[in-house]
Amino acid sequence: MDFLVKPSAVGDATVTVPGDKSISHRALMLGSIAKGDTDISGFLAGEDCLATLQALSALGVDIERPSPTRVTVHGVGPHGLHAPLAPLDLGNSGTAMRLMAGLLSGQQFDSVLTGDESLSSRPMKRIITPLRQMGVRIDSDNGCPPLRIRGSSELTAIDYDLPMASAQVKSAVLLAGLYATGTTVVVEPAATRDHTERMLSSMGVRINTTGNRISMRGGQVLRGREIQVPADLSSAAFVILAALIADHATVLIENVGVNPTRTGLIDILRSMGADISLENARLLGQEPVADIRTRSSELRGCPVDPVLVSLAIDEFPVLFAAAATARGRTTFTGIGELRVKESDRIAAMAKGLRTLGIRVDESEDGAVVHGGRLTGGIVDSHGDHRIAMSLAVAASVAESAVTVRNVEAVGTSFPGFPDRVKSLGIAIEVSAGSRK
Ligand code: S3P
Repeated sequence: MDFLVKPSAVGDATVTVPGDKSISHRALMLGSIAKGDTDISGFLAGEDCLATLQALSALGVDIERPSPTRVTVHGVGPHGLHAPLAPLDLGNSGTAMRLMAGLLSGQQFDSVLTGDESLSSRPMKRIITPLRQMGVRIDSDNGCPPLRIRGSSELTAIDYDLPMASAQVKSAVLLAGLYATGTTVVVEPAATRDHTERMLSSMGVRINTTGNRISMRGGQVLRGREIQVPADLSSAAFVILAALIADHATVLIENVGVNPTRTGLIDILRSMGADISLENARLLGQEPVADIRTRSSELRGCPVDPVLVSLAIDEFPVLFAAAATARGRTTFTGIGELRVKESDRIAAMAKGLRTLGIRVDESEDGAVVHGGRLTGGIVDSHGDHRIAMSLAVAASVAESAVTVRNVEAVGTSFPGFPDRVKSLGIAIEVSAGSRK
C-alpha cells in the first residue's frame, strides 16, 4: 500500500486522534492479572494492541470488546493465566513482546513469543539479561525473537541499573517483579514513560518512585478498575507537524495524554519556535491530559537537548520532518536507540528526506538536518508506521507530489490516519501500490 500526497493547504480544525498505545497495552496486561473487571475506554484499536489482546485471550483471559474502543477485561488474578496452545504472535509490537515476556516469566507454564519480520530482528538481550538474573529460564534466537520462556515459580527480586533508558525494559522487570520474592528495584539512567508505575499504583500496588529509582515488593495483588485511555501524543505529533509547517492554520487536538515523561516533543518544537499551547489541563484517572493548540510557525533549526531524548523517543521521525522545513540546521545527538526501533529510524528518515532534496548528515547516534524546501519524489517507509506518517505529512509542503511506499504498518498505531489528515486539508490518496 502507498500514500500519494500532493501539495496541500492545511486549514483550521478541531480533531481527535486514537488512544494511547502504551497505555492500551498496559491496561490489557494489568487488567488480565488483576482480580475483578477492568473497563477500558478510549482503547487503541490498532494492530499492536490487538496482538496483545489476542495473546491474552490465548492465555485464557475472557476479554469483551463491545465496540472498537471499549474493552472489558475479566481479570483472572495473578495466577489465573493458562498455558497457550500455540506460540503467541505479537506482530510488529516491541512493547507487547517485551512486556509480555516479563509477565509470562512469573507463570508456571512454558510459552513462546514470536513476531513479524521487523520484530524478529529487534534486540531482546536487554530484557533477557535482567530476567535471567531474576531466575527466569528464557532463550532467544541469538538475542532476537522468538523468545522461549520456561515456567518458573522461583523468581527473586533484583536491584537493576538499566543500561539504557527504556520503559519497555523497566516494565518487563517490574511485571516479573510482581511474581518475585523480595523488593524489585529499577534505576533508570534517564526518566522514561511511567505508565506502568502509574497504572500499578491505581490498581492498588504499592510502588515507590524516588528520582530515577523505582521499587516494588513482589506478591502484591492488582484490583481491576476503570481505565480511560487518553489520545496518544505520539499520534497527535503528526497533526501537530501538519499544523506547524502549514502556511496558515490553527489546529486543536482534544484530550491528549501529556504525561511529563512523554512531552519532550513539545519542548523541542518550542525551542525551534513552535507556537503550541496546552489548554484545559486535567487528570484522566492517573494520567495528565490537555487539549493541544498548534499554530503555523516559522521553525528555526537548533541543537536538540539530549536530555529530552527519552521523553520524545518515538517522535524523532516527526522532529526530523520538522527540521527539514526549518530555517537552518537542527542537530540531534544521543539518539542511537532510534536505530533499533521498528526500523533504523535515523537511516530511514535520512534516506527519505535526502530523496526529497534535504541534506542530512548522519552519525552513529545522531544527525544534522539542513532545513530547506522539499521536492517531490518517491520514498519508502521501511515498513515503519512512524516513518510513513512523518514523510506523508512533510509531503504536504513539498513542491510537488510525493509517493510514500509500503505504508501498511500505519495500522499498528494510527488506524484511520489518511482520513484524519484529510480532514486537516492534506491531499492524500491511498493506493494498493506495489510491495518492494
Ligand atoms: C514504549 C516504550 C518505548 C517506545 C515504544 C513504546 C512503551 O520503547 O519507543 O514505542 O510502551 O513502553 P523503549 O522503552 O524501548 O525506548
